[in-house]
Amino acid sequence: MHYEIAIIPGDGVGAEISDEAEKILKAAADKYGFTAASKRFDWGCDHYLAHGRMMPEHALDILKGFDAIFLGCVGDANKVPDHVSLTMLLEIRKGFKQYANLRPIRLYPGVSTPVRTATPETVDFVVVRENNEGEYSGAGAFFKIDEPDGFALQTGIFSRGGCERVMRYAFDLAEQRKQAGYKGMVTNCTKSNALNYSMVFWDKIYQEVAAGHPDIATDKALVDAMTMWMVKKPEWFDVVVASNLFGDIITDLGAMLQGGMGFAAGGNINPEREFPSMFEPIHGSAPKYTGKRVVNPIASIESVRMMLDFLGEKDAAEGIGAAVRSVLAQGAVRTRDMGGSHGTDAMGDAVLQALLAD
Ligand code: IPM
Ligand code: MN
Repeated sequence: MHYEIAIIPGDGVGAEISDEAEKILKAAADKYGFTAASKRFDWGCDHYLAHGRMMPEHALDILKGFDAIFLGCVGDANKVPDHVSLTMLLEIRKGFKQYANLRPIRLYPGVSTPVRTATPETVDFVVVRENNEGEYSGAGAFFKIDEPDGFALQTGIFSRGGCERVMRYAFDLAEQRKQAGYKGMVTNCTKSNALNYSMVFWDKIYQEVAAGHPDIATDKALVDAMTMWMVKKPEWFDVVVASNLFGDIITDLGAMLQGGMGFAAGGNINPEREFPSMFEPIHGSAPKYTGKRVVNPIASIESVRMMLDFLGEKDAAEGIGAAVRSVLAQGAVRTRDMGGSHGTDAMGDAVLQALLAD
């Protein structure tokens, strides 16, 4: 098979982590007998400073022809305000109907985490974050904001179609995981005690979709309690379905269970494959480390693993996963976030060697 992969390194450390991602992608292609042509797009804050836009007007038309997208990280508040720069990411997620944001939370042996209850045995679940609407719908307005009685309005939009499709995705995933020996449960992350329209509706759709999956257990956690349970009893969870904002928040906590932001990967999935899906580490662009090559590339490499898995290159995905696990378990190469002094390249090279050696 041949794949055309768009790489958008973005801002800050995006370029250096994209180098490692690309290195692993190419090595996996050689080893597992497929080809991957990658093309880089230098969109982001510098593009904004030069052209007044984060990416060209027809960016989605350009990206549409690719099989998948790898995105490094976006944002550099010294150059462009975050709420402006981040529109790029949100436009791709929405424009390509990448409505399921898949964020596996898994702690690999050899990685230490600040959370005492987190062990490789207890931390192994997936958050499915609604990725196109909800609190991120962008609907709202400012009213007389410089006046004493001024206010701002931000409206969440929860459509039946939007809720149904992400719930269906979560239940289908739980079915698949159940086949692989997981519990077979979808936890509904909600806040319907306080959000009396949006989250009551969300719960209703959850119940409706759950009724079509009688073999999958239902479960419910209010988002505040969810953060407590994630720390107290991480082994409880299998698949968690959450709205856009709640999913955003709980996956940063999830990243801590995994050992830090340097390990947390994600995929913005268009399940119908009508448009390319986009894979990205969930961390930010850490502008202060730009060019220093000190950040951990594991989250990016894991995003490549998820990309190949989605594209159907299961052996390659498993090979990358095994290489990552063996490097981390050995512990000889440790980046700064892991308390070591190895650079981004050294970690990428170690995974590459392990992949080739396997
Ligand atoms: C994430 C990020 C983004 C989000 C930001 C950068 C807009 O935090 O992918 O989790 O909130 O979705
Ligand atoms: Mn986030």
